[in-house]
Amino acid sequence: MVTTVGTETTFEKLVENLLILEHDAMAAYESTIERLDDPQAKAKIGEFLNDHRQHVAELTRLASTLGIDAPREGDAKEWLTTGKVALASLVGDKTILKAMSSNETDTCTAYDEASRNAAASEEARGFFRKAYADEVRHKTYMDQAATA
Ligand SMILES: [Fe+2]
Repeated sequence: MVTTVGTETTFEKLVENLLILEHDAMAAYESTIERLDDPQAKAKIGEFLNDHRQHVAELTRLASTLGIDAPREGDAKEWLTTGKVALASLVGDKTILKAMSSNETDTCTAYDEASRNAAASEEARGFFRKAYADEVRHKTYMDQAATA
């Protein structure tokens, strides 16, 4: 399904939902790293996982400035097109990377929406733009690797 994360009407809910999305994304990344055969692809996905860790650190900082509890895990329900559980049943690097690319579509959409969300502070929107650029970079790599 197409994610609605990023379109929240309050800054607090936006940060909370982005954190849940990020935790689900990181679980999918970890599953992907375990399942990939190609060591170069594994290393690249590991680099991207670090970008996600940085996103979580910044979102957690924002949550604390907003005085809300930062979610520490995903809920694996509706946030990603292909979550950790679905990924576990896939076989073959290209198949796995194609599935991950569909998740990047969700994270790209979420940060693109968030970067234009009037409920967020200007500073946070700047961070969302950077996170969006990270997600576009991840998706570009996955699309190329899935069709190479
Ligand atoms: Fe990503």
